Order: sequence, then structure tokens, then C-alpha cells
Amino acid sequence: MIVKIKRFDGNTERIDTFDIDIEERTTILEVLEKIKNYFEPSLSYRAQCRASICGTCAVKVNDTHILACKTKAKDMAKDNTIFIEPVSNLPVIKDLVVEQSIFYIDKLKKAKPWFEPKEQFEPVYPKDLEIYDKETDCILCGICYNVCPAVNTDKEFSPINFVKIFRFWKDKNDKLQDERVIIANENHITSCIHCKYCSLSCPKNIPVETDILQIEFYGKQKGYIQQQNQGFGFGFGF
Ligand code: FES
Repeated sequence: MIVKIKRFDGNTERIDTFDIDIEERTTILEVLEKIKNYFEPSLSYRAQCRASICGTCAVKVNDTHILACKTKAKDMAKDNTIFIEPVSNLPVIKDLVVEQSIFYIDKLKKAKPWFEPKEQFEPVYPKDLEIYDKETDCILCGICYNVCPAVNTDKEFSPINFVKIFRFWKDKNDKLQDERVIIANENHITSCIHCKYCSLSCPKNIPVETDILQIEFYGKQKGYIQQQNQGFGFGFGF
């Protein structure tokens, strides 16, 4: 298989090409490991768990954002070729390594992505957990951020924030409850353009755009969300 990799050394970009043997089950991460171990030791990329848990190995392959450890190379190949490049919407540090603190720290902390327990806990049943079960799967890989057009027009916006807000808003033992929706407004929820790229790209199949829609619908009905924020400014009006 022909593997092209976009490289960046801090100053200049180039594309390196490798011709390697792969098997049916070889993942994109294994391709990168093979290239680093046998051909190009200076190649930089992130990966830790190799099991779709840590969220560090997101890359773009043939124009599609994927987790490298979860995706087979053969499934991504076109004409027996794959082109691997860093994810979009984040500055590149070196090769496939990007600056993640923008969404991971700077923006995410504004969503209060932690549980605020009530004094008295209510019993939680499986039907309660089902409501936010998918959202608990979020591994902060950032792919929803990488594919989101709105993050380029509203620098405050980040789709991940609303996955976290939804998860705790729907937890009946979280004491913030509707305050979570006010936080969503402060996080510029109306800058979402409902393109659904986030939901379609999420490797954990989290319905990110539907979460945003639900928070926005409820917030507008309750008067917590009125104004359009920055961005394209044509989110759904309820
Ligand atoms: S290496 Fe952890 S998600 Fe891929």
C-alpha cells in the first residue's frame, strides 16, 4: 500500500511517501508505527491506549477524520493509497501532532464538565441512564471539533462542550440542572449551524448535534436562550 504522510517540522511542510506491506486487519496506527519503527524514526503522532479509549490518535485519512487505532487501513484506501494528515481546525505542532489545549482546556472548562452532586440522591434506574448513556462514552478525541465549520466563525464555540453539558443536565442527581442550559447559552450554543458533521463523524456515535438541538429547544422555550451568538447566525429558530 502507498502511504503518503503530511509532515511539518515547525517551519515547512512536505509530503513523504512510503510503500509498505499491510494485512487485512492492519490499522492506521499500526501503519504509522511500522513507518516510524522501520523507515522514518522522526515521524511524530499521538497514541496511547490502542483501544479507542484515550482519544489521542485522531488523524485525517483521505479527507476523513478517524481514530487511527480503530480504523483499518484497507477500509480507508483509495486506489491502494492512503493520505494521512493532521486533523483540521487546530494548529499543527509537528507532523500529525496538533495543539489540543484550545478545545481540551481553554474552551472545555467553560462548560463545567463535571458532576455537581445533589445533597439527597434520587434512585437511578436503567431508563434514566439510557438518556445520557451515549454521552458518557465521549473520549475527548476532538473529532467533532475538527469537522465543525462553526468553530472557525465563532472562536468561543466548541461542540464537545454541549456533549458534556447534556450528560450532566440529564443526570437527575446533578444539582445544577437548568443552570446547565444557561451555561450552554454562555458557551454560544446558537452558533451551531446544525450541519450534523459532528454526529456523523463521532467515532463513538454520540448524537452531538441532537444534544445541541435538545438543549437549544428547551433553553429557548424556558427563556434561557434568546439571542443568536456569533458564527453563521442561522441556527434553527424555535
Ligand atoms: S490510541 Fe487511544 S483512542 Fe486511539
